[in-house]
Amino acid sequence: MEQLLQQIKAYKQEIASANGTDAESFRIKWLGTKGLVKAIMGEMKNVAPDKKKEAGQLLNEFKLYVENRYAELHAVSENNKQQATNDQLDLSLPADPMSLGSRHPISLVRNRIISIFQRLGFAVAEGPEIEDDWHNFTALNLPENHPARDMQDTFYISQNPDWLLRTHTSSVQVREMQKGQLPIRIICPGRVYRNETISARAHCFFHQVEGLYIAENVSFADLKQTLYFFVQEMFGKDVKVRFRPSYFPFTEPSAEMDISCLICGGEGCSVCKKTGWVEILGCGMVHPNVLENCGIDPNKYTGFAFGMGIERITMLKYQIRDLRLFSENDIRFLDQFTGAV
Ligand code: DAH
Repeated sequence: MEQLLQQIKAYKQEIASANGTDAESFRIKWLGTKGLVKAIMGEMKNVAPDKKKEAGQLLNEFKLYVENRYAELHAVSENNKQQATNDQLDLSLPADPMSLGSRHPISLVRNRIISIFQRLGFAVAEGPEIEDDWHNFTALNLPENHPARDMQDTFYISQNPDWLLRTHTSSVQVREMQKGQLPIRIICPGRVYRNETISARAHCFFHQVEGLYIAENVSFADLKQTLYFFVQEMFGKDVKVRFRPSYFPFTEPSAEMDISCLICGGEGCSVCKKTGWVEILGCGMVHPNVLENCGIDPNKYTGFAFGMGIERITMLKYQIRDLRLFSENDIRFLDQFTGAV
């Protein structure tokens, strides 16, 4: 018993002075399976039976003492480790780069078209994508048997055969005319739908911008000058335009407008099919029947209208050859369009 007391005292002194000891080597030396605590516990068997209780208490108290000391050393060493990693942090390093999104090319070009026409005093108007037959066709002077009404071209809503997905933004001009607030000077950007097989040149949905100007004494010269201004702002001062006679049920006379090919400058290439010209929009003077259908007196008012595909303008502007790129959401394609047009 006396020896045990001496030994414990000596151990305690050693432990008390063990400041700065590595926690793990302390644990192995004292508390490990071959450690000194276990060894001294083994001394119990040499203690006289009447002293066993006292010795047991002493040893347990010693074991507790060692364990507490280990806990202290462990806490200190954890703290040191943390400190070390903090010291390695270089707060002056630049942060991980944050990738910024960019606008879709169709949005960029749509916004540009809008801003050009806004400078001429056009306001933006919008209408529903699910339309009725009257706004999409009848009011626009499309006779009952017109091929554009064919199921091939138009998506009809099965619950109601009178409803369809608008095939053009011309339906919005009808809605604006019906409001009866003249003069009207609007552009209508929006998505349109057609029952087409998807390919590089056709898609079942795309975007258009419709334009409409109705007032007293609006002439075809006003139409030409407006569109000429637009084209020069959009494609630059060097671009040439030409108007070709055409047919649309809702305009009379009607025309299609071409611009000189931006790729070859009019020399002739595969984009302009060797003609030097590419078609960009349809236009004309609003048909008197359309004005009447929408409650406007054709003897007092005249107007012009035009409609263009945003995809087409975007493809020409950026030399994109495949319509499908616009809706595939491939980040490698979309990433290229960063700033405003
Ligand atoms: N709505 C025609 C289309 O979808 C485009 C168009 C042509 C609109 C002539 C017009 C216009 O307003 O006058 O192809």
